[in-house]
Amino acid sequence: MTKIIRTVKEWKQLRKSKGLVEKRIGFVPTMGALHKGHASLIKKCVSENDVSVVSIFVNPTQFNQTEDFERYPKTLEDDLKLLEKLKVDFLFFPDYEEIYKDNFRYRIFENELSKILCGAFRLGHFEGVLTVVFKLLNIIQPDRAYFGEKDYQQYKLIEGMCKAFFFDVEIIPLSTVREADGLAMSSRNILLAKEERIYAANFPRLLMSEKSTEEIEKELNSLGFKVDYITELNGRRFGAVHIGNVRLIDNVKL
Ligand code: PAF
Repeated sequence: MTKIIRTVKEWKQLRKSKGLVEKRIGFVPTMGALHKGHASLIKKCVSENDVSVVSIFVNPTQFNQTEDFERYPKTLEDDLKLLEKLKVDFLFFPDYEEIYKDNFRYRIFENELSKILCGAFRLGHFEGVLTVVFKLLNIIQPDRAYFGEKDYQQYKLIEGMCKAFFFDVEIIPLSTVREADGLAMSSRNILLAKEERIYAANFPRLLMSEKSTEEIEKELNSLGFKVDYITELNGRRFGAVHIGNVRLIDNVKL
């Protein structure tokens, strides 16, 4: 049975209790709407640790538009079934008040990597991500935390934050899980209409191709995508595009 914990106080008491204090704790932070990408992180977490914790918290401070936040898929019943099936020990499921008692007065900034790629298009996004992950890691106190490489920039920023602030946690990245047609698994995929979903596969196809970034961008534009960026950095190719009002990101190793 996955035990649901809603308050910081309850988890902190448990974390210090005899049953958990000596245990190796693995943690997968999520915003819910769990898919096969999350499942791969959770399976790894369950297999590598004595105790597994998944959090579901749709973090409002990392969304640029309230509309996007409100539209973010919420599938709690299915999520719970998956957590039970994967034998997750604890679900940390706090509400806004619990996490943001300070009303976001205190924040974590990063000054370089967070300003480029997605950071250049989603102002304040990584400030919200880093702040909430800082809080979650501080609450859960895991030995290991797992992040998907689909959000590579996020993973690198979190890894850097943990080093900068001397967190005692190992940050473990896992490869992107893809649909049969190559589209990276994402909670946002279910927001795509049927036609859009079919056409979305052009994005990973072109990203993985031998073409130059300029050629890829041109082709995506001519196919009707709105391209935020296609950029190569440190041996990876990164991209972000819009299909209608759904924003998709992806990256591949070159
Ligand atoms: O990748 C996500 O789902 C979120 O950005 C995270 C890491 C759970 C923080 O809200």
